[in-house]
Amino acid sequence: MKVLEVRNVVYRRGGRTILDGVELTVCQGQMLAVSGPSGSGKTSLLLIVAGLVPADQGEVLLDGVPTAEWGSKIRSSIGVILQTYGLMPFLTAEENVALPMQARQMGRAAIQDAAATALDEVGLLEMSHRLVSELSGGQKQRVALARAIAGQPDVIVADEPTSELDPENRDQVIRLLVSKARAGSAVAVASHDAHVTAACDQIIRLVHGRGVPIAPSSDT
Ligand SMILES: Nc1ncnc2c1ncn2[C@@H]1O[C@H](COP(=O)(O)OP(=O)(O)OP(=O)(O)O)[C@@H](O)[C@H]1O
Ligand SMILES: [Mg+2]
Repeated sequence: MKVLEVRNVVYRRGGRTILDGVELTVCQGQMLAVSGPSGSGKTSLLLIVAGLVPADQGEVLLDGVPTAEWGSKIRSSIGVILQTYGLMPFLTAEENVALPMQARQMGRAAIQDAAATALDEVGLLEMSHRLVSELSGGQKQRVALARAIAGQPDVIVADEPTSELDPENRDQVIRLLVSKARAGSAVAVASHDAHVTAACDQIIRLVHGRGVPIAPSSDT
């Protein structure tokens, strides 16, 4: 079942065409990698997919409905890990993970449960009550992942989710994202990391603003 569809997305900024007709589809249970060199438009594409930035042309459909029509409900359906994390430094890890679920109006106990599960899944349960400002870069990145996966959203969008991690944590994060896909989410991940792309079901490489499909086994 198609969960996420990007149709002919064009994005222009600063007099440049950054995305020039990108198309992609991610089905339930699948993980897609978006690769390409620095500046090729990976973050721009994921921000558009997550409904955080509007495209100049084209559309993104979530469960067949354009994201433009979802309004604020889209935030309950898409979990996002931003490249810059976007965590609140003076809230604890647990409070950060809970934020989007509070917006979804889940009950307090269910939120606490889901936050603890997600923090456990990223190996940070014992850090739940630490302020984010007191965490290392890789720990912050894993809190951002916990926030994105908590409550199993339909779509998980992850921008360079392993950039700050050691090999062991990187492999754990890759396994976790694959398991979230297999459990029913559609996952889109931007990454330079060949370990990440190797774990994906499909890969597109951004070249001159276009998404070029490449075989999962080939070099990224
Ligand atoms: N709001 C903006 N205004 C002007 N230029 C922008 C804007 N957003 C992105 N760009 C430009 O678009 C291009 C693509 O940026 P983007 O962040 O999407 O690349 P990326 O593939 O994620 O790079 P990286 O691998 O370094 O994270 C860059 O040249 C960037 O300078
Ligand atoms: Mg980027």
